[in-house]
Amino acid sequence: MIEFFINGQPVQAEDDQTVMQAAKANGYYIPYFCWHPQLSVPGNCRICMVEVEAEGGGWLDIACNMPITKGMRVLTDSEKVRQRRKDTLQFITLNHPVDCGICDKAGECTLQDYHYEYNGSPSVSRDAKVHATKHYPLSERIVLDNERCIMCTRCVRFTREISKTHALGVQNRGDHSLIRPVEDGAFENDPYSDNVIDICPVGALLSRSFLHKARVWYLKPTPSVCPGCERGCTVNIWHRKSEWKLKALDQQQNARIDRVTPLENAAVNGPWICNKGRDLARIFERARAEQAMQKGRPVELKAALASARALIAAARQPVALVSSWGSNEELSAFSQALGSRFTSYVKTDWLPVAGERLEDEVLIKPDKNPNTAAARKLYPALPPDARSAFPPDTDLVLVWGEGFAFAQLPPKAKIIYLNSYLQPENGHADVFLPISVQTERSGHYTNFQGVVSAFAACFDKKPGVSDAAALFASLTVPARLGATS
Ligand code: SF4
Ligand code: SF4
Ligand code: FES
Repeated sequence: MIEFFINGQPVQAEDDQTVMQAAKANGYYIPYFCWHPQLSVPGNCRICMVEVEAEGGGWLDIACNMPITKGMRVLTDSEKVRQRRKDTLQFITLNHPVDCGICDKAGECTLQDYHYEYNGSPSVSRDAKVHATKHYPLSERIVLDNERCIMCTRCVRFTREISKTHALGVQNRGDHSLIRPVEDGAFENDPYSDNVIDICPVGALLSRSFLHKARVWYLKPTPSVCPGCERGCTVNIWHRKSEWKLKALDQQQNARIDRVTPLENAAVNGPWICNKGRDLARIFERARAEQAMQKGRPVELKAALASARALIAAARQPVALVSSWGSNEELSAFSQALGSRFTSYVKTDWLPVAGERLEDEVLIKPDKNPNTAAARKLYPALPPDARSAFPPDTDLVLVWGEGFAFAQLPPKAKIIYLNSYLQPENGHADVFLPISVQTERSGHYTNFQGVVSAFAACFDKKPGVSDAAALFASLTVPARLGATS
């Protein structure tokens, strides 16, 4: 460890730390645009300037690329530093449109924050601003506003150092510099491309799916877990704050996923997620099943439960196909209530879809289900030929969750089916019970490495829908009624 001084206070730093890293670790804030803890250090934005005190007057230098030396004395907020940051901001905003009023980044833009902190003055330039492309289609998912770009190159370095697609570069020089994708479509096919939206310190990189949908101060993040694969990246699901609930217009906007961003987690995904994790609305906002049924006929939930209980009590050889999307809590509720009554297997609810990346060295894993690890601790996997798992005299199958082809069920077996979505199989079950989705309840998943992550409820449950854990508890059949086989 090395001792040095920040604003006159002694602080300890690792031998190889820069002033930026040591300041951050010791709770001192130094502004930055181009620096990112997970990327290389280009030192191009100059906003992180600090003053080094020394005999003879000292000097100004950038904190992100300056190594600590023993006894060094650094000032992070002196008059000289503030004046240099003001000058730097004047330069950075020279050609910037300052169109914060219509910018999606407003509210979480560091350029906006630093402008108010260090500049706050109109431009000193009398020259007309240099204009650039306003809406450049960088990919199907991302629009680039070149006028807002401050050339920090974080996006370029992300594709070189993290996703390794080398899909972005800088074209031209000086105030004609433009971020552009390489021409072979690598950015379009980069499954991690949307991370550049988060790390862009300004509103230059914009998500098409979120563009002009909501101001961020009307939204709140709920911590959650991406169920898109066994990595189980932690995410924030953003949705409208209840105090900003819309009373007119489209009421569905009060209960929809507006965007998904990474929830930094060193044990699982660091600060990144893949694009599938951004698209959770496509999974959770599919048409929902909200009505209990018997053989396709709508019934009261109470009646459906009574029938299910009767089927369980009468069965001699019941088999259960357990969901790999069930939370740890739901798995334990199933195991306690019904585990001893059923022969159970873990089914694969989701398979990779056509064109989806199966696996890579960044985050994406081959099993496209979030909780296979926890489910497999309790029960064996359903074999690929599911028919071989059913004993010949199977007379009842409880199917939990989607993704199982009913054609594989023993033809004479009764079926109890728990599912969240409107799907043709629902009407074929002897008893159908609609269940909540992850965004309507809280729980935990265990990922392939054994790391347990929590998710919380974002929305109220749909009417008519129950949590699977509650249904399992109410399906418990007293032992004396259960048939012995
Ligand atoms: S688009 Fe954003 S991240 Fe990329 S160089 Fe410009 S300001 Fe930086
Ligand atoms: S890597 Fe897997 S868990 Fe992580 S965001 Fe992508 S699909 Fe979701
Ligand atoms: S953050 Fe140090 S130069 Fe950009």
